Amino acid sequence: MCGIVGVLGREPAAPLLLDALKRLEYRGYDSAGIATLGAGGHVERRRAAGKLRNLEKVLDGDPMIGTAGIGHTRWATHGAPTEANAHPHVAGRVAVVHNGIIENYRALRDELVASGARIESDTDTEIIAHLLNGALDRGLAPEAAVRTVLGKLQGAYALAIVFEGEDDLIAAARVGSPLAIGLAEDGTYLGSDAIALAPFADRLIYLEEGDWALLSRGGVRIFDETGAETRREDTPTPASISLAEKGNYRHFMAKEIHEQPAVLGHTFGNYVDLSEETVRFDEAASIDFRGAQRIAMSACGTAYYAGLIGRYWLEKLARIPVDIDIASEFRYRETPLAPGNPALFISQSGETADTLASLRYCKAGGQTIASIVNVPTSSIARESDVVMPTLAGPEIGVASTKAFTCQLAVLASLAVHAAQARGTLGPDALKAAVRALAETPGYVADALRQEAEIERIARDLSHAKNALYLGRGTSFPLALEGALKLKEISYIHAEGYAAGELKHGPIALIDEEMPVVVVAPHDAVFEKVASNIQEVAARGGRIILITDERGANEAGSDAHETIVMPTVPELVAPIVHAVPVQLLAYHAAVFNGTDVDQPRNLAKSVTVE
Ligand code: G6P
Repeated sequence: MCGIVGVLGREPAAPLLLDALKRLEYRGYDSAGIATLGAGGHVERRRAAGKLRNLEKVLDGDPMIGTAGIGHTRWATHGAPTEANAHPHVAGRVAVVHNGIIENYRALRDELVASGARIESDTDTEIIAHLLNGALDRGLAPEAAVRTVLGKLQGAYALAIVFEGEDDLIAAARVGSPLAIGLAEDGTYLGSDAIALAPFADRLIYLEEGDWALLSRGGVRIFDETGAETRREDTPTPASISLAEKGNYRHFMAKEIHEQPAVLGHTFGNYVDLSEETVRFDEAASIDFRGAQRIAMSACGTAYYAGLIGRYWLEKLARIPVDIDIASEFRYRETPLAPGNPALFISQSGETADTLASLRYCKAGGQTIASIVNVPTSSIARESDVVMPTLAGPEIGVASTKAFTCQLAVLASLAVHAAQARGTLGPDALKAAVRALAETPGYVADALRQEAEIERIARDLSHAKNALYLGRGTSFPLALEGALKLKEISYIHAEGYAAGELKHGPIALIDEEMPVVVVAPHDAVFEKVASNIQEVAARGGRIILITDERGANEAGSDAHETIVMPTVPELVAPIVHAVPVQLLAYHAAVFNGTDVDQPRNLAKSVTVE
């Protein structure tokens, strides 16, 4: 996955391309590059390995003047993150940027090499430039060349292409990877998402699966997958999408952790009606919880862990069985799907390729498609029957924090709503649950007050080479999330385990060097976790206990360090206990001096399978 942009304007395109790429850097930051049509209509190119700021430096020293251009920010799939593999890829009169994977690229590459083409990179993208250039050499016009070459490509791609001498043309194509076109008085724009185009475009067109398009300054011609010219609706650019600023925070991640009371307030406010003491899911009206036999959930990464916690809630409160899978595995189980049952997908970006593929699999299986998404214009949102938004606002830090707790907020609200619909909770229990949801933003604000203490404990944790995270019940997925957070931003190896599973293997790892973070609010399973804590303490493990006051009183002396959270209703404890888990990882990473917002090798939105 990568970010791609295109600009056909009246001013030099490079600064606009750079600006748009900054908003797409969440999609990858292994290398970046730009091609514009310069003097005489020739293709000019600047590229740099590493982050966008490296390309910016190259452009400072060697500016470009062309008003038509394309740009790219890369997350490496084929070939190392070097300058030679950076996009745009150029062959003769053609420059191409690409997001996705061309699955038949080896066969195409072999054919090209056999016919004498000189391939300079290890990428699957370069072959597209050669195929297009070959088509031009055979006398085809750009439109016919695009049409012919697209017919040869298998896989997933979003493409932007410029041609030498064609100053009023960008060709674009979409199969499996999102692409939006921006329309404005002063030009026509192209981007992997609406956020990239928001400052330039008044109106947006989302290309549909299989579409390809020819952009000019005066507008756009769109062709569907059969090659027939078609029309796609344009919509006003949503005013709310703009690049978030870091404000006074050192990192976006810190800002996003601290935004949680506010964005949880917005998200719960969307579903919880305190005056009526109820939860409302107007948009979810078509999820028939009364008729549903089971729910199939899938998601990736942090969103998957939110789903795991949601499963505990939906099964316990609403007595509905939930199957949950990592989206990249779901289809391969070939699980039987009963038509008409709900399938639920959780995604911050709404673009994660594996989650989207699972969605399409369930759609083909006749399921009602529901999604919990943070980006309302995303592919997952647009392909869902029922969309339940998280109102977290733009999340820029690669490690998800506020989107995670907002996903939990929607899932907890949904579980209470499902319990209402299925009559599985009595009126008093329902009212108590609704009040708990409404009070959560306040609890999270209280949890944040422990930051100085957590920072102190994180200094110690930052010296560790390995760490274990343990939890039981809803704290088990939180342990998985804690371990993921620590490893992705601080590069400390960490594993999350169900506390009861410790004795079946991982206990062998415990010695005086091993920090063991135990997430254990004083809930129904606390006594059992307390026994697991003793098992660790007896073997000299260094326990960092995250609990509440009662838990601290009962198990505190076995712990090396104790982080005390506010006492909260059991239902919402995972949302509150997520805060110390996030802060521990954040401060450990800051102590280790890693790139917190853009950790190595990662990308925020993963649009390849
Ligand atoms: C990437 C991100 C994670 C995220 C996961 C799923 O791996 O680094 O933070 O949880 O993708 O992304 P989604 O946008 O579907 O929630």
